[in-house]
Amino acid sequence: MANKSVIKNVNEHVGETVVIGCWVNNKRSSGKIQFLQLRDGTGYIQGVVVKSEVPEQVWDDAKSLTQESSLYVTGVIREEPRSQSGFEMTVTGIEVLHLTENYPITNKEHGVDFLMDHRHLWLRSAKQRAVLVIRAEIIRAVQQFFDQNGFTMVDPPILTPTSAEGTTNLFHTKYFEEDAYLTQSGQLYMEAAAMALGKVYSFGPTFRAEKSKTRRHLIEFWMIEPEMAFTDHEESLKVQEEFISHVVQSVLTNCRAELEAVGRDISKLENIKAPFPRITYDEAIKFLNDKEFEIAWGEDFGAPHETAIAQEYDKPVFITHYPASFKAFYMKPDPNRPEVVLCADMIAPEGYGEIIGGSQRIDDPALLEERFKEHNLSLDTYKWYMDLRTYGSVPHSGFGLGLERTVAWICGLDHVRETIPFPRTLYRLYP
Ligand code: 4AD
Ligand code: MG
Repeated sequence: MANKSVIKNVNEHVGETVVIGCWVNNKRSSGKIQFLQLRDGTGYIQGVVVKSEVPEQVWDDAKSLTQESSLYVTGVIREEPRSQSGFEMTVTGIEVLHLTENYPITNKEHGVDFLMDHRHLWLRSAKQRAVLVIRAEIIRAVQQFFDQNGFTMVDPPILTPTSAEGTTNLFHTKYFEEDAYLTQSGQLYMEAAAMALGKVYSFGPTFRAEKSKTRRHLIEFWMIEPEMAFTDHEESLKVQEEFISHVVQSVLTNCRAELEAVGRDISKLENIKAPFPRITYDEAIKFLNDKEFEIAWGEDFGAPHETAIAQEYDKPVFITHYPASFKAFYMKPDPNRPEVVLCADMIAPEGYGEIIGGSQRIDDPALLEERFKEHNLSLDTYKWYMDLRTYGSVPHSGFGLGLERTVAWICGLDHVRETIPFPRTLYRLYP
């Protein structure tokens, strides 16, 4: 048997005979030649079967192949400048593994519900594959950034006794006799980890029982949450812009073909380099009012507000110093103006919305205790979190990056449902 290879590596085998395990993506025939569009997950290659040059069995096997049939194909790799990949295979042998009948996803237009019901198969399409490759590159670049900048990766728990981001959208479950919730954010635990390790980050799934059916909301999504001891709000913003620049530039360097497959306008990404613009919440309100939006000081922004603000910039923009009234209990008030907090949301360009939420945390135990009371949070369940202020409290800051919104932005996708292999949305738990 010839050497096994994968499509991605055929450039190393020009002039050689190789075997590739693959599926039929498409097929056409001219009577004397069959052109097999083959995919193996690593890429695409055309296999050319010439009737006069192969045994009859090989010709007949090629003829029997249907869309998404699986096979081992044997052949000689040739350079082919006219092909998109630059290579082609002259087929010499075919071992059919499985003949597929009536593959449901065809070249016809399919509705979103149909595609979502067949998500397990839809993943095989070129665009969906490219999105998952880019997602993996983003995760790799995230970890590289933090690993190279002195952070230690720490894993917070998934099952928790309390809430981190408000009690309205918690997923409840029983933990034997006790009540438990799926984590909304690892932050509070990451604060404990930062007091043990200095600079830490987590990467894991988070859950929000949000009754919102928007292009930006998932019920289960993945978050990257760095937390930094001895770091103030301003220093945290610098980390955030360097971090996002690194991630975007890594995707540009390593995923050219995939960005093309998803149809992304690359020029929009090339410019994503630190520093990023900043405006305060006050300035944002004024800007919106000037644009005839009816929004008063003290109200939170919705998607249309964020989009209007983002449109002014060709990079992500930080909106800082939101009113304490609608932000999380743990955010540190601005010492000069306690009605606003030392926080920032990073809004992606082109209408992709908030990708990062972050803040400096309250380090004063008395103030934190006050906040617990204001938010009706039981001090008993948060005693461990109070301990972080009781024993060697320090200024510290952190933030959370939503992975799926980041993938949507970098890939230029309309909806977050295509950014995760099996999306969990308001009305969908299948497949
Ligand atoms: O702004 P959020 O709620 O912040 C936190 O959870 C903080 N505890 C993070 C921290 O400081 N460690 O969420 C952070 C990010 C958002 O900016 C958004 O990108 C994403 O998580 N996100 C969602 N993504 C998809 N679907 C949802 N339902 C999301 N909710 C938040
Ligand atoms: Mg937020």
